Amino acid sequence: MTSPSPVRHFLRDDDLTPAEQSEVLDLAAALKADPYASKPLAGPQTVAIIFDKPTLRTQASFVAGIAELGGNPMVVDGTLAQIGTRESIADVARVLGRQASLIVWRTYDQSRIDEMAAHAGVPVVNALTDQFHPCQTLADLLTIREHKGATAGLTMTFLGDSACNMGHSYLISGALAGMHVRVSGPEGFGPDPALLARAQEIAAGTGGSAAFVADPKAAAEGADVLITDTWVSMGKESEAIDRAEVFRPWQLNEHAVALGAPGAIVLHCLPAYRGKEITAEVLDGPQSVIWDEAENRRHAQKAIMSYLLRPSSLSRRGE
Ligand code: NVA
Repeated sequence: MTSPSPVRHFLRDDDLTPAEQSEVLDLAAALKADPYASKPLAGPQTVAIIFDKPTLRTQASFVAGIAELGGNPMVVDGTLAQIGTRESIADVARVLGRQASLIVWRTYDQSRIDEMAAHAGVPVVNALTDQFHPCQTLADLLTIREHKGATAGLTMTFLGDSACNMGHSYLISGALAGMHVRVSGPEGFGPDPALLARAQEIAAGTGGSAAFVADPKAAAEGADVLITDTWVSMGKESEAIDRAEVFRPWQLNEHAVALGAPGAIVLHCLPAYRGKEITAEVLDGPQSVIWDEAENRRHAQKAIMSYLLRPSSLSRRGE
């Protein structure tokens, strides 16, 4: 017989309440200011980091961050582990949960990480699925706080494949942070309607808003934060040729930046394809804070791992 799990996970952006998200961002800022101050993984305890898809920033930032927290990062190659094929996700979860204090997983459908979390017995963190990339958006909110002083009340516009993980995570995380979130993409590349509705529900309680804006110019107008992402997410490579033409009007270029608010900042989760979703002038230009954003992955992920490992984070047991 199984009882409800007391373990907290970070599988999607709204696994944190607005207050908890703010607390995690405060912690991230504190850990950035004093990187070796806190060692919740002292021992060292092991964190398993599994990749079913390519990685650079995620592997580098988790490995470095886990070491800074006093822990031992154990990188697992998903192509060798063949989770769900060679053995079931539940069996892998049970095995890794006996070796590691926390599991980080980059994989395909969200249902896979939900299943991992159901059986692991330790916190599970989403390092990107087809539907969400919540560690990236925590890093982005930290970056916005640093450059704009706050998040609430600001307008954040995402131009591109709004049906992808980044579009969804900006909608939900921005709504939690009290932002006005606009996502814009070509017909057929809008967000999952259920997730847009979820963002609107959250925004109603935080003073923010969430909308799909079909026209990229209207979406960029007056935005404080302008964001894009690759037009071809991992796993969608076979569609690449068609997408470049369809997505051209959503390119983050000097015209889009000119429509934004004065002093607007530019974000990109990377990897970036200059001349496709973003121009070199914008990516390498004065309004880009992309390298701060990339660094902030480490600080944000240290914060969410520390938060999930804190005994007090179990207080929502049974909710
Ligand atoms: N939407 C992109 C994000 C990469 C960090 C992808 O899934 O490939």
